[in-house]
Parts: sequence; structure tokens; C-alpha cells
Amino acid sequence: MQSLASKLVPSAVQKLIPYQSARRLGGNGHLWLNANELETCAQYGDLSQGSNDHYHRYPDFLPHDTAQAYLNYCEQQSGKLDCEIVAVRGADEAIDLLVRTFCSPGNDQIIICPPTYGMYEFCADSFSVKTCKVPLLENFQLDVENIKKQLPSSTLLFLCSPNNPTGNGINEADIVDLLEASKDSTLVVVDEAYIEFSKHGSALHLMHKYPHLIVIRTLSKAFGLAAIRCGFLLADTSVMAYINRLIAPYPIADPTAEIALKALSQNGLHLMQQQTSKLIQVREWFKGQLMLLDSVQHVFGSETNFVLIRFSNNVNSYQYLIEQGIVTRNQIHEPALNDCIRITIGSKESMLETLNALKNLN
Ligand SMILES: Cc1ncc(COP(=O)(O)O)c(C=O)c1O
Repeated sequence: MQSLASKLVPSAVQKLIPYQSARRLGGNGHLWLNANELETCAQYGDLSQGSNDHYHRYPDFLPHDTAQAYLNYCEQQSGKLDCEIVAVRGADEAIDLLVRTFCSPGNDQIIICPPTYGMYEFCADSFSVKTCKVPLLENFQLDVENIKKQLPSSTLLFLCSPNNPTGNGINEADIVDLLEASKDSTLVVVDEAYIEFSKHGSALHLMHKYPHLIVIRTLSKAFGLAAIRCGFLLADTSVMAYINRLIAPYPIADPTAEIALKALSQNGLHLMQQQTSKLIQVREWFKGQLMLLDSVQHVFGSETNFVLIRFSNNVNSYQYLIEQGIVTRNQIHEPALNDCIRITIGSKESMLETLNALKNLN
């Protein structure tokens, strides 16, 4: 039976032969004179020594050890998975790659559920793909019935769970309901950038039953490695066959793959989990303290490393905090959140300084 991915993929991508980079072509030999690399590592001090002595060579097409380590980490949480994985330059590249692989400019449409992460719409806009917006309900859950109406005319549905900037997880029953309804029409992407901070489980286990589900992950949040630019896309073979046609010839730099591998070691995972528990404690304490402030109208529940705060009318909390040297994220551009700011959870000291600043805000 034809997969949904192959039904949806534009004919240009269907016909595309992946760029045959030197690493992808591979081969056996003792002299490697095929990729216009230097044959020895240049003497840039430490860069030519020890584990860095291969930097004159292009990296692997896929950093297999790192990708496998991430898959093992997912399986520890979600049980045995029946999917493929690719490493990408952050979750942002995964979003872009999905739009460019499955949508054709001027023809296709994606669905997003605002307020949500801005890159889905940005990537669609940049590729002349239409964005259909089905706003979240008042409780920030999905408007399932209205999303269903848009499925027949949409190629990709982007769900963000836990959602940025609202901070809540999406009910799994709603995701399942939409996966059922979209089987013949729409690939469903669940962006789980903040999953480690959440009490909601991952959607990964649903992939067994729903091969049109795609999950995006990142090392930028709980793993604290935003600078190395490393994310992962997990999907069924039928989806990955097309992703692999468009992915950059060398998506991940060796230093990135090496640092990621350390973070995914047993020791690294233990450290990440400890850091995450500590952050959640600070988050809940900060939330409790915020609710005592007169200027704060509401603090939304969070399953992420940030909180969304609604301030009383006529208070410009964002500008006030900027004047105190504290940079937060203004939500003025979001119609439903224009009196809110989003504050990332840092150390207890940073949150205390922020609280003290907010105490003087009226
Ligand atoms: C929901 C969501 N997805 C993806 C990303 C991008 O992550 P990365 O740093 O891996 O590109 C972010 C970053 O803020 C995010 O909030």
C-alpha cells in the first residue's frame, strides 16, 4: 500500500536523487583522495591533536553513534521504537526540512495552533506555503474539531507539546484523535523540544500505530547545549526516505556530534536529569512567589523551562524589566497574550533578582 508520505511528497522531491557526497558514496581504500580535503590536519594547536586529529576530513553523513545514543535514550523512556532517526542542526532545521520536503510552494498548506512556536509559520512563509491557523482553546488545548475540518486540505499539522509560549502539554487523547483523522491526508509533527520538563509522556510510542507521526527533539533545552546546534527528527522509514533526499550533505559537524555523544552517555543523562529536577523545583517556587505579587494577574502552569505570566492591565512589565537589565520575552504580538511576558527559568539567584525587581512594579 502506498504510504501517506509518498502520496504527499511533491513530484520534484519524488524524482530527486540525493546529492552524492563523498562520504555518502563511501568506498574502500587506503588513500582517500575523493573529497578535496587536506590529507593531514593543519597545525592549529590543539585542533591537530588527540581526538581532534580528524578535523581535516568531512564528517559522516549521519553521526551514527550519536543518533543511536539518542534513539537509546528515547527507548529508555518510550519502550522499543520502530522508527528511523536523523540528527539535524537543531529542531529548527527539522521544521524547515519537513516543510521543504513535503510542501510545494504556492500549492500546499500547513496547520498551526497559535499561540505557538513562531518557526512553523516562518518556514512556511519563506517557502511560499500557506499557513492555516486554528487557535488553541481558552485552556490552551487543541480545538480538535476545527483542526479536523482543515486536515483534508493540509499537508503538515504542527503540534507543539509542551507548547511554547503557553507552557502546557497537549492532551494525548487529542493527538490520538487527530492521528486517526489525518491518516489519509496529513503528516502530523509533534515538536517535543521541552519534553524533559513535562509530566506528559512523549508521543513517540504512538509511531507503531501511526506511521504518519513525526517527532522533533532537541539538545538545546534540558540538555543545555543550544550552542552546538543539535536536534533529532524521528519518523517512519516511509517519511525518512524523503527527508534523506533533502537533508544537507554533512548536516552535523564533528565537534557537535562528539559533545552530543558525551551528553547522551549514562553519566551525561544522569546529569541532565538532575539539572532538570532542580530547574523544575525553582520553576514551581518562582511561580508561587509570582502569584503573591499585586501586579501579577495569573501565572500559567508550565511543563517547560519558562513561565508565562499575565500582568494586570496597564502594567508594562516587559519594558520595566528591561530597564532593570532583565531581558524577558514580550508576548505583545500574540492577540490572546498581549498582556503577558514569558520568563525563562534560570538559577534561583536569577529568579530572586527578577522577583525583587517585580516587587517594585505597580
Ligand atoms: C517549541 C520549540 N521548538 C524548537 C525550538 C528550536 O530548537 P533548536 O535550538 O533545537 O533549533 C524551540 C526553541 O526555542 C522551541 O521553543
